[in-house]
Amino acid sequence: DAAAGYAEPQGHGGETHQTTSDAALTMTTAQGVPIADDQNSLRAGPRGPTLLEDFILREKIFHFDHERIPERVVHARGYGAHGVFKLTDSLSEYTQADVLGTVGQETEVFVRFSTVAGNKGSMDVARDVRGFAVKFYTKQGNWDLVGNNIPVFFIQDAIKFPDLIHAVKAEPDRAFPQAQSAHDNFWDFATLSPEAWHMVMWQMSDRTIPRSFRTMEGFGVHSFRLVDANGKSTFVKFHWKPRQGLQSVLWNEAVKINGADPDFHRRDLWNAIEAGDFPEWDLGVQLFDQETADKLPFDHLDATKLIPEEDVPVRIIGTMTLNRNVDNFFANTEQVAFCTQNVVPGIDFSDDPLLHGRNFSYLDTQLKRLGGPNFTHLPVNAPRCPVMHFQQDGHMAMRNPKGRANYEPNSWGADGGPRENPEIGYKSFPAEVQGTKQRIRSETFADHYSQARQFFLSQQPIEQKHIGDALVFELSKVERVDIRARAVSHLRLIDEDLATTVADGLGLDLPEPAKAAKPTQDLPT
Ligand code: HEM
Repeated sequence: DAAAGYAEPQGHGGETHQTTSDAALTMTTAQGVPIADDQNSLRAGPRGPTLLEDFILREKIFHFDHERIPERVVHARGYGAHGVFKLTDSLSEYTQADVLGTVGQETEVFVRFSTVAGNKGSMDVARDVRGFAVKFYTKQGNWDLVGNNIPVFFIQDAIKFPDLIHAVKAEPDRAFPQAQSAHDNFWDFATLSPEAWHMVMWQMSDRTIPRSFRTMEGFGVHSFRLVDANGKSTFVKFHWKPRQGLQSVLWNEAVKINGADPDFHRRDLWNAIEAGDFPEWDLGVQLFDQETADKLPFDHLDATKLIPEEDVPVRIIGTMTLNRNVDNFFANTEQVAFCTQNVVPGIDFSDDPLLHGRNFSYLDTQLKRLGGPNFTHLPVNAPRCPVMHFQQDGHMAMRNPKGRANYEPNSWGADGGPRENPEIGYKSFPAEVQGTKQRIRSETFADHYSQARQFFLSQQPIEQKHIGDALVFELSKVERVDIRARAVSHLRLIDEDLATTVADGLGLDLPEPAKAAKPTQDLPT
């Protein structure tokens, strides 16, 4: 390149340089040194050994060798986009959270949709739960709503999470199957864990083969708290409702799509945003107080239960629009770090034991996945409001406390850095806590089948048929016949017709019903 002003390098075998010369920019090393020849390493003669001295070769290969970071231990395959959330109905009566207070206010967001079980290179239209994680860059710091497209979860206590995930991921000796559902280990775990059966019904429904990320609902799953300026708390469950409608594909379509285009969902989202067809979701809340919670026929702290919208209506409070694709997948979608414990003043936790485990888990895994404690310095994770504290150093620190003082209390006055502020700072809701320290599951968590049945009966006949077909298909892949029968024994507590259909489909005699810890209730559908 004449503009670069250095000599034309000698190409392979004395031929012309093996590169095009139509780019205007000069290539450099990571140290900024201009590179004259990116095709040939430094050698002792044309056929001699390569020289260790070649810092350009060594730097290039060293960096390449370290390109991969650990994929997420779950939700490894995902796709993200930037957007904005606009509030249309104020919740200032319930919360001091600024993001939920001022009607018309717009807050930037980053969203990552994902599958749970597959690894990073797996196919998009797997029968799987989808992650629906939203980072709100609020004026009071980052608030992450780390949800799924299913309103309930498989387990009630975080201590079961490693078992659940081991059971859904590939078996350790053979490293298959990748499919979460057609899996002896998964069905073994699920049939030994009655609490999973509400979620299993959702998993076998059309919800887990969405047509597009744009046509999925999202749920925060757990009860959270909203806390107002006077310290009054209201429980809340969060919902995302797609303005594009709710759409799924059929199983045989999913199988074909995965073969033809494993990137179907990410391509769809990218194309829609590139075309200016920006997907939108309404944010809804179910608000309820302790008295309402006490009257529910289940425990709202149990993540395997949902609160029917007929009992506590969903109030729409705003709209999220995804309007910008990432310009760098790795920098944004791979390095984004969501965490349930990222809350802002006015938003607090309930005592859901699954949520408490999550609050520990995300930060812990990200410390490893993102290589140290400074991942909040990465642009996608950095708050868009002032950040001031005395945390310092560590791998890849991009900023440190300014000036002389890096501790408090200090008496350096205006040069002494930030101070705590009881007026606007985060205060935990002063819930009264008492109890005996013990490993125990609450009795109020013991009804595992009523809502599974309620969900099944709420489905249209064609959707019920899809659930039956999915159960037969997935269970027919399970090698152990006793596990298949155990699955049907749970179905008998959910719906007898469904149990019979599945038993027939599998060529099984109808087994005895599973033993329920608590009698099931006939809930309205
Ligand atoms: C990742 C949702 C339960 C641990 C994720 C992601 C979502 C999610 C959406 C992907 C985040 C992203 O896109 O980067 C949920 C929901 C749960 C649940 C809705 C139940 C209601 C749990 C539990 C644990 C857990 C119980 C552990 C105790 C993790 C971990 C990651 C993850 C370690 C990977 C995070 C990372 O590497 O950045 N989860 N999860 N999750 N989840 Fe969960």
